[in-house]
Amino acid sequence: MWDNRLGMSGKFFVRSFGCQMNAYDSARMADALGGRARAAASAEEAEIVLFNTCSVREKAQEKVFSELGRARELKERRGGNLIIGVGGCVASQEGEAILERAPFVDIVFGPQTLHRLPEMIERRRQSGEAQVDVSFPEIEKFDKLPPPSFSPPSAFVSAMEGCSKYCSFCVVPYTRGEEVSRPLAGVLEEMAHHAANGAREIVLLGQNVNAYRAEAEGGVVDFAALLECAACIEGVERLRFTTSHPAEFGARLIDAFAKIPKLADHVHLPVQSGSDRVLAAMKRGYTVLEYKSIIRRLRRARPGIAVSSDFIVGFPGESEKDFAQTLALVGEIGFDFSYSFLYSPRPGTPAARLPDDTPLEEKKRRLALLQEKLEQGGRTISEEMVGKTETVLAEGRAKKGRGFLRGRASNNRAVNFRGEDSLIGEMARVRIAEATAHALRGELLRAQ
Ligand code: SAM
Ligand code: F3S
Repeated sequence: MWDNRLGMSGKFFVRSFGCQMNAYDSARMADALGGRARAAASAEEAEIVLFNTCSVREKAQEKVFSELGRARELKERRGGNLIIGVGGCVASQEGEAILERAPFVDIVFGPQTLHRLPEMIERRRQSGEAQVDVSFPEIEKFDKLPPPSFSPPSAFVSAMEGCSKYCSFCVVPYTRGEEVSRPLAGVLEEMAHHAANGAREIVLLGQNVNAYRAEAEGGVVDFAALLECAACIEGVERLRFTTSHPAEFGARLIDAFAKIPKLADHVHLPVQSGSDRVLAAMKRGYTVLEYKSIIRRLRRARPGIAVSSDFIVGFPGESEKDFAQTLALVGEIGFDFSYSFLYSPRPGTPAARLPDDTPLEEKKRRLALLQEKLEQGGRTISEEMVGKTETVLAEGRAKKGRGFLRGRASNNRAVNFRGEDSLIGEMARVRIAEATAHALRGELLRAQ
């Protein structure tokens, strides 16, 4: 039974899956609801539970449905008094079908319609009927959302949405739509808002953020120009961006690393494979040589820059020789800690129809080898940092609790150090004392 007393005055909880773009969207959902509802610490305390889902790999998608089962139990225990919403890429991909598999869901919304949440919840309340809106109203959400209500020391700002690259393995162009850039003024305003709220670092986001192109007075603004404008915003001390596509990493963006000191010493540039044959089958739009040329020029522009990447292992038809080329590239580039995934066939993508005769066990063996090599690379970089002094943005308390802080060095390495809460949000000079598995332990010299 639906309870009409439940409305927008209650508490909401957002469970976020997947990438940084989803983390950003989850914060925007909170902003959309923020004026009328408050964030709850857990689903148990909430009257509205939202799932912001990811469908890039099958595993992530199935996790959503298993967690939805738990929300259903919670709803049953409450006699139906819980609004359950499913957003993000699974919602976009499945649409109405979510309601067939999970009829207890009240609202299904896509990445581009999250700003309509308050109205959808209201309509659900009034009509008693489930609401589905997974349309792609281009960047309307940015016009409708209020300014960010909360700014962490390192804040995400979306510069563009969607992807038009159609890599043969990937669902993103189908679930998030084609590439659309936000107008320059809107991106800069949101950054300035975060800076005024106390953020020191901005991470510009987009599935292919370096494909950013916006009309502005006097012509078209590209991503390098956006970075130049962003660096002028008062209070912004460090800039990062993710994710970039190698085919869009032109000379102007490489030059930006020489010209803009606020750009962090790190770039995340997914390569996926070290084999030209596999890259062509993936429809990535670059060769291994072209990728290596970008990295070489980037290192000339910014010596010592850390490079991390994404890899897919076991793409249909990947041979032992193709895989050996991936391992060789890892050795040659000296990647930092990176992401590597087993290829996961996604419904509706061209690669899902390709014949695939490599046994799963073999794919897992390759993945383990690659991960070991990437870990080794990451550890080498960590060990080389010991004894050096880094500028670390203190982002919050470390797991150890009060008296210990966590932050990130310019090259994106996590650093834990002893320090008081008053330093949170400050740039601190920290001497690196020890390299642990995935982080560094440092000693505070002084705040900047
Ligand atoms: N825009 C980015 C780029 O230039 O490649 C990638 C965004 S994608 C959402 C994040 C990562 O997920 C990809 O780089 C790829 O490694 C991985 N990925 C995407 N589809 C996948 C699939 N079907 N199976 C395994 N991994 C996948
Ligand atoms: Fe996916 Fe390729 Fe775009 S990995 S997000 S289609 S660049």
